[in-house]
Amino acid sequence: MSDTPSVLFVCLGNICRSPLAEAAFRAAAERAGLEVEVDSAGTGAWHLGDAPDPRAQAIAREHGLDISGYRARKVTRADYDRFDHMIALDEDNYETLHIYRPEGARAQVTMLLDHVPGREREPVADPYYGGPGGFESTWEDVSAGAAGLLQGMVART
Ligand code: 4NP
Repeated sequence: MSDTPSVLFVCLGNICRSPLAEAAFRAAAERAGLEVEVDSAGTGAWHLGDAPDPRAQAIAREHGLDISGYRARKVTRADYDRFDHMIALDEDNYETLHIYRPEGARAQVTMLLDHVPGREREPVADPYYGGPGGFESTWEDVSAGAAGLLQGMVART
């Protein structure tokens, strides 16, 4: 088994929050010089094969990241053995991941903000039905989560 930590971020549609978490974590790991395997997926199937929501692409671009090539996919059973961490963006995604977690699976299932001291069990709010302002707060949350997650990994290496 490789020592490279592997992380799958999971939200509902895989077009707003989890692609942003993936991008934020990828960038933070790169800045820290830590090699990681990162992907994102959704628990729902409405947007399979779609690019991230234009509002998510815009906020990523504002922060210097291009996520236009990402494509939505659904969580699979194989993900539970492929990834060390499956990280849910909110409590619904967290419960879904737990319900389908096979006995003895490799992946640890947590919520993103569990990795930010003092924000354990807090969800990253779904920005899909709100205005563009919601995406700035999504970006702040996923950046905080990515930084906390990375800090934990660096501390363990
Ligand atoms: P996400 O946002 O879970 O952050 O990607 C959503 C995207 C699409 C839908 C809901 C949430 N939808 O109902 O289609």
